[in-house]
Amino acid sequence: MSESLPFDEYKTPIANLLEVRRRSIDDLEGFWDEKARALHWFKTWDKVLDDSNPPFYKWFVGGVTNISYNALDVHMDSWRKNKAAYIWESEEGTIKTLTYLELYREVNKFAKVLKDLGVKKGDRVTIYLPMVPELPISLLATVRLGAMHSVVFSGFSSSALADRINDAESKILITSDGGYRRGKYIPIKEWADEALKNTDTIEKVIVVRRTGKEVNMVEGRDYYYDELMSKVSESTYIPPEPMKAEDPLFILYTSGTTGKPKGVQHSVGGYMVWAYWTLKWAFDPKEDDIWWCSADIGWITGHTYIVYAPLMHGLTGIMYDGAPNYPAPDRVWEIIERHRVTILYTSPTLIRMLMGYGDEYVLEHDLSSLRVLGSVGEPINPEAWKWYYTVVGKERCPIIDTWWQTETGGFMITPARGISLVPLKPGSATFPLPGIDAEVVDEDGNPAKVGERGYLIIKKPWPGMLQTLWKDPDRYKEVYFSRYPGAYYTGDYCIKDEDGYFWLLGRADEVLKVAGHRIGTMELESAIVSHPAVSEAAVVAKPDPIKMEVPVAFVVLTSGYEPSEELANEIKKYVAKSMGPIARPDSIFFVASLPKTRSGKIMRRLLKAVILGKPLGDITTLEDAASVEAIKKAYEEFKKAVGGA
Ligand code: WTA
Repeated sequence: MSESLPFDEYKTPIANLLEVRRRSIDDLEGFWDEKARALHWFKTWDKVLDDSNPPFYKWFVGGVTNISYNALDVHMDSWRKNKAAYIWESEEGTIKTLTYLELYREVNKFAKVLKDLGVKKGDRVTIYLPMVPELPISLLATVRLGAMHSVVFSGFSSSALADRINDAESKILITSDGGYRRGKYIPIKEWADEALKNTDTIEKVIVVRRTGKEVNMVEGRDYYYDELMSKVSESTYIPPEPMKAEDPLFILYTSGTTGKPKGVQHSVGGYMVWAYWTLKWAFDPKEDDIWWCSADIGWITGHTYIVYAPLMHGLTGIMYDGAPNYPAPDRVWEIIERHRVTILYTSPTLIRMLMGYGDEYVLEHDLSSLRVLGSVGEPINPEAWKWYYTVVGKERCPIIDTWWQTETGGFMITPARGISLVPLKPGSATFPLPGIDAEVVDEDGNPAKVGERGYLIIKKPWPGMLQTLWKDPDRYKEVYFSRYPGAYYTGDYCIKDEDGYFWLLGRADEVLKVAGHRIGTMELESAIVSHPAVSEAAVVAKPDPIKMEVPVAFVVLTSGYEPSEELANEIKKYVAKSMGPIARPDSIFFVASLPKTRSGKIMRRLLKAVILGKPLGDITTLEDAASVEAIKKAYEEFKKAVGGA
């Protein structure tokens, strides 16, 4: 693992970072008391950290603030008001620029619209939009009023949307008349209407015009965004709601190992401080940077690093609404060249995909504006790292590999170049940030040996951590704090090497990472089982050269149904429709029964071994050993038969 380090000039001691981190962990309260002052507060806190009721930690107790004030109002008295906040580019090639002043005006106007529709502090607003400027505007207007947003990725299906609306009990839905992907019209409003048939909390629907297509509008319920906005004065000012630091800021649903998606709830004060400092430490942004985080705002990466953190830093960000390889494989490079992007922050899946098209697409473009490259969402394999570093970055740009989760609010383990020129190792996210007491432990919670795989845990609270799971504090305790009492369990495997570098190795639990997207095995299984032809299903991850993992399903059919290629395809389509295309199984294998323990648990470990062609290990707890043989056979046969999958 100790590859030679590519950055000679970075071979400076990292003692500074390690020293800052040590001090911060020894004196969490003193450290954060100082750091939080970088932001604007209507009133500062009385206590930095209230840890009297673990794991329900409260940060900056007594502090009063509003994140929209820190993202927008703070820039209004300086020249920055005329700086571009967003440069938006659509797939079709339209480019729009929104300055900080314009964004501020739009947010105030839209906050007025929402307020007139009855939105008030503590309410939930569900946002289901493609990557249009109205998306960050909606987030900011919602939190300006002290309401909480729940953003649902626009690639999710209607039933995923309905579940999230119902769980959050949202009263407003903000959506669009559609979107475009690879030139194809995406009927977002139709999906929203479908979802609304199964929800009863939504009172009003606001429809952003993205495509101009005629869509179904329900009298008294649905309103066009532009029509509502045109009735509001350009000089509307809505005072930001004074929010307690420990008030909830937003909910974002993510997949876990069991049951329905979890509503990860973030706080007003802690999240804000964490978002601000993590961006600064990792990327050390400069005033004239052009920042492009290529995620979708539907995920945490977009929440923190397209909306909140870059705006608090007064950066210019790129927003791209489209496919990264459309109309040609060089779209990403074209965008970088066109807008003189200085920092690109993207995922290993995209890097591998673009790498697969060949260097010539990169070399055709002038990428000399780039100065830093970032990666997120999954482990970056050294091969992709090196390609990113040499072909894209021309060996000039450090690779900032950021390990973090929806639950952590912002980066956790990443090279903190804003503090110290951390030497990089391809494939390692390097060290935890200040304030992060991370450790790799074995099953019993003892520190794992150097070079040995263990579980990553975080031993002390940090400001950006989730507050709880929405309406489910017991599940919050159970999922994150029961395995290693007192510590936050990440669910990730990790190795610490001889130099103390952290190497993240992917999920240790039954969560899949498909092209960087989190998909719960159980969630996917229940979607498959809801198909009438299916009586049982087990999903496991199969390694994939581009997407890292893809889901494959072993399916037991209900009597009366026969295995066929058509049925496999129908089930795949059915899942794509009910959960969204990202969850579509790559292959479906029909089997007579699933391997289960005597207590009835599906032994996914065995299915995985079959997929990987590995030895099956201990099968003594198995109820019916014959099922494994049957599965192996089914898998081999399907591998041979072309259409079977
Ligand atoms: C994985 C995305 C290795 C990890 C921000 C984590 C990573 C899960 C990295 C969270 C990385 C994210 N290296 N693995 N740099 N970044 N992961 O909630 O398994 O969508 O637990 O948040 O992604 O995914 P989530």
